[in-house]
Amino acid sequence: MGYQNQIMIAPCLKRVLYLLVLIISQVKGQGTDPQVNVTFITDAIAKGAVCLDGSPGAYYFAQGFEDGVDNWIVYLPGGAWCNSKDDCLRRSKSGGADGLGSSKNAPPKTLFPIQSPNKSINPDFYNWNKVYIRYCDGASFMADVEAVDPETQLYLRGRRIFISVLEELMATKGMANAANALLVGDSAGGLATILNCDRFSSLLPMARRVKCISDSGFFIQAKDLPEDNARRYFASIAAFHELAEFLPESCTQRMDPGLCLFPENVVDDIQTPLFLLNSDFDRYQDRE
Ligand SMILES: *[C@@H]1O[C@H](CO)[C@@H](O)[C@H](O)[C@H]1NC(C)=O
Ligand SMILES: *[C@@H]1O[C@H](CO)[C@@H](O)[C@H](O)[C@H]1NC(C)=O
Repeated sequence: MGYQNQIMIAPCLKRVLYLLVLIISQVKGQGTDPQVNVTFITDAIAKGAVCLDGSPGAYYFAQGFEDGVDNWIVYLPGGAWCNSKDDCLRRSKSGGADGLGSSKNAPPKTLFPIQSPNKSINPDFYNWNKVYIRYCDGASFMADVEAVDPETQLYLRGRRIFISVLEELMATKGMANAANALLVGDSAGGLATILNCDRFSSLLPMARRVKCISDSGFFIQAKDLPEDNARRYFASIAAFHELAEFLPESCTQRMDPGLCLFPENVVDDIQTPLFLLNSDFDRYQDRE
């Protein structure tokens, strides 16, 4: 398949692969790692960079140190999607510390091990600047719909959250001077990583190296994914969140927007080095 030619596995990324497999298969956070406080996007409401329920877009930031001060690792977490009024409304009210449609409850957080400051468990990135963006939009950080449905008061603004967080870090924390930058995500965040990889890179024109790692984000058109027929399901996500104009044009020129949520239809055109990691044992996708 053509996209395999696009996958560039730099030697250091092989170590990352090893590390990822090791850590993601074990635990989400290390008990000994410090917790990081939430940051709300400045003027998020005025900018409209908000979660499904209208609460401010948010992220967790830990400053880089030693020779990592100019390096950045940005994480996009997973959490599936919502694809209709009812589904997104439910999600906007789901609450909880990782509420997938709201930032109302955002306690301090231990970051994933790939963002651990502990050198012994994270030798490659322990001293990098770390950013973890709250996933609260229901569409893999891709939507930016200005209109708000008066009935539901749902906001579809994940793309705006993603860009606002990066702009804020560039303006206030030195990300504009990033030497190395890595965008990483898993599941719905892994898909977000693929779809936002070139955008991430274009926001950092001064960086020496920009790369992306998608863990479990290469969704396939299996016939019996748990929710529904995958093709119909992704088409409904693209339609509800009005993603057509934000998906890669090289794809939407050729096929329906819903199909452009499938990485197989977009990775050939991604310019930025992208590393794909998908488990053989991924129960979400192995039923075909
Ligand atoms: C770093 O991780 C190791 C291995 O898990 C652990 O033994 C050690 O206590 C951790 N160090 C700090 C400072 O948390
Ligand atoms: C996190 O917030 C708490 C409460 O406001 C504060 O006491 C603590 O110092 C903060 N931690 C960091 C690392 O900024």
